[in-house]
Amino acid sequence: MTDSDARSTSDDLVAFHSADKVYGNGFRALAPIDLAVRRGEITVLVGPSGCGKTTILRMAAGLTDPTSGTMDRDTDRMSYVFQDPTLLAWRTVQANVEVIAKLQKVPRHERRERAEQAIKMVGLDGFQKSYPRELSGGMKMRASLARSVTSDPELLLMDEPFAALDEFTREKMGAELLRLWREKRFSVLFITHSIYEACTLGHQIAIMNTGPGHVVEVIKSPSPPSLDPDVERDETALRALQEQISITLGSFRE
Ligand SMILES: Nc1ncnc2c1ncn2[C@@H]1O[C@H](COP(=O)(O)OP(=O)(O)OP(=O)(O)O)[C@@H](O)[C@H]1O
Ligand SMILES: [Mg+2]
Repeated sequence: MTDSDARSTSDDLVAFHSADKVYGNGFRALAPIDLAVRRGEITVLVGPSGCGKTTILRMAAGLTDPTSGTMDRDTDRMSYVFQDPTLLAWRTVQANVEVIAKLQKVPRHERRERAEQAIKMVGLDGFQKSYPRELSGGMKMRASLARSVTSDPELLLMDEPFAALDEFTREKMGAELLRLWREKRFSVLFITHSIYEACTLGHQIAIMNTGPGHVVEVIKSPSPPSLDPDVERDETALRALQEQISITLGSFRE
């Protein structure tokens, strides 16, 4: 990608400009990167362990600053979704799903309504009064996803959210995320180690490598998710993309 490609436009919700990261112990986690999360799109980060994916997400969230360069984010309405669903054990599904909106002081009536809608959308209707211990791993992740959209974010920051799930549940969660995305039209920065997931979800996919962490290539999907659920994906093109990413990542190990 050239500099001019990465220059932010009003279509960019998050933009990194020559942003690098040297941690307090002197470790250089990221060389300067240019990357943009476009409004209404899903940007996926893939790359070997330690290449700085979580560091980028944490910078996007404002949890840590670039050492030099800049991160511009055009919204404060964001939700962070971790690999672990981190539900409160002593609260029901309904209360868990409402908790972030509650912290944000969304009026009770409105957050109840939003939570109800989100719980239905992720297929947990009927489990509002259940406790986390009564749910399967996939159901907990659904509750976590419902919680993250109940605060009505413009930006979802997702760090390997489905990594702990079996493949079948994981595919369903990906489809669930796309359904929520069509409904709510948020933007997403999504980290995964699954090339299949990256190609299914991404409008663009940034391939990263270590030594120090950097973005090798940003690929635009040949058949991105559409807001219209009836638009068929070009499976052949997506399989070719998977193959291409797999070869690129494989070459890093040589
Ligand atoms: N607080 C910190 N202090 C020092 N080094 C850190 C800190 N956080 C992360 N690192 C180092 O920075 C590098 C990038 O870490 P990061 O967590 O961003 O990688 P990642 O791509 O998310 O890896 P993974 O796929 O394993 O989650 C790693 O080498 C890590 O050890
Ligand atoms: Mg990580």
